[in-house]
Amino acid sequence: MKIYIKDIAQYEGQEITLQAWMYNKRSSGKLHFLQLRDGTGEIQAVVFKGNVSDEVFELADKITQESSVEVRGTVKKHDRSKIGYELDAVDVKVLSASVDYPITPKEHGTHFLMEHRHLWLRSLRQNAILRVRHRIIKAVRDFFDSKDFTLVDAPIFTPNACEGTTNLFEVDYFDDKAYLTQSGQLYMEAAAMAMGKVYCFGPTFRAEKSKTRRHLTEFWMVEPEVAFFDIYDDMDLAEEFVEYIVQQVLEHNRDDLEFLGRDISKLEKVKRPFPRISYDEAIEILHKKGNDTPWGEDFGGDEETLISQEFDRPVMIHHYPMKVKAFYMKQEGDKAACVDMIAPEGYGEIIGGGQREEDLNKILEKIKEQGLNPEVFDWYLDLRKYGSVKHAGFGLGIERTVSWICGVPHVRETIPFPRLMDRIKP
Ligand code: 4AD
Ligand code: MG
Repeated sequence: MKIYIKDIAQYEGQEITLQAWMYNKRSSGKLHFLQLRDGTGEIQAVVFKGNVSDEVFELADKITQESSVEVRGTVKKHDRSKIGYELDAVDVKVLSASVDYPITPKEHGTHFLMEHRHLWLRSLRQNAILRVRHRIIKAVRDFFDSKDFTLVDAPIFTPNACEGTTNLFEVDYFDDKAYLTQSGQLYMEAAAMAMGKVYCFGPTFRAEKSKTRRHLTEFWMVEPEVAFFDIYDDMDLAEEFVEYIVQQVLEHNRDDLEFLGRDISKLEKVKRPFPRISYDEAIEILHKKGNDTPWGEDFGGDEETLISQEFDRPVMIHHYPMKVKAFYMKQEGDKAACVDMIAPEGYGEIIGGGQREEDLNKILEKIKEQGLNPEVFDWYLDLRKYGSVKHAGFGLGIERTVSWICGVPHVRETIPFPRLMDRIKP
């Protein structure tokens, strides 16, 4: 049976064989210390001249970074190592040598690392981020599944815009045009009318022409949608959801967070209730802090950061002016019954959502007002014709969430193969 590093404690005192990659090496006289990794953890193999043949000792001296190896040895307790054990080697084989591995333990520039993203993923830092990302996605699924939501997949090719027409990716669709989806929301509204509580989870696309640390052109979003929910139910769900995700990461990935140098005490504060402020109150905060965003304008990254500094947990800003929000939002006076959740510590908006307009005439008016073609929305309008009910939902961006929880400032490190305005390779 294949043995993994994370299970090493079970084999204390036994001779085992590990297959792994050597990510680093140190030597001193009669000893070579091989740092091994297999994706489940890291362990040091000690090659002592007295325990191995001369050939093996010489081979161990020559193993290069990222060669794949097979090491046979005895599992020994070693309190000073992170995993608590080391391997006392009796034999070492190189399965495949790695020649001139480009990413050395010295510092490299971001451009160079991004060019080698397929290899950069092997670094312990990227391993930790990938594990946290995985945990967040698992927590997302577990949360909704445990609340009897049904996962309903939304299409990637769409005939219409959801989040404005300025950042659509247009593709040829036989003799027609289609767009890559910006959000599965409109489909989730249909699904919520079928199943009550639903969510979709998948990649979404936006031709973001801004190069910021928060924007990808391809990002993953989870979007719950619930029939008979209003904006306040929506906020309750969002805060319970985000609290759950953070607590799951704290419970299962503390080591990874520590490795990443994350200030864990800040995440421990992420407990309900989260502060809720109206857009008007947010404007007041900004003005007090010397930011002069006029009433009626949307917030950008700078504004979000300023507002987040006032709170020690995510803050929900609700009821933005209708004119800065999408056509599907439920209007209340000159406001939209919508909510954005802003992560603490300046990591920006992680959730956008709200209550949807359920009245056929009102939503038709909005579609026209925003210069959209009502014909492509005919199917969507049907939802308001046949048993329309109030409903609400939201979308959480996975990469922004990973960035915040890991304390990684740029979203490019939070997705395995980031797609940015100036990057589509590897
Ligand atoms: O606020 P947004 O645009 O909301 C929607 O798409 C709604 N239709 C969702 C819904 O109600 N079902 O996007 C939701 C979230 C943002 O809060 C942010 O976390 C993330 O998606 N996001 C991005 N993440 C990375 N790169 C980008 N370019 C992003 N644009 C949005
Ligand atoms: Mg938004």
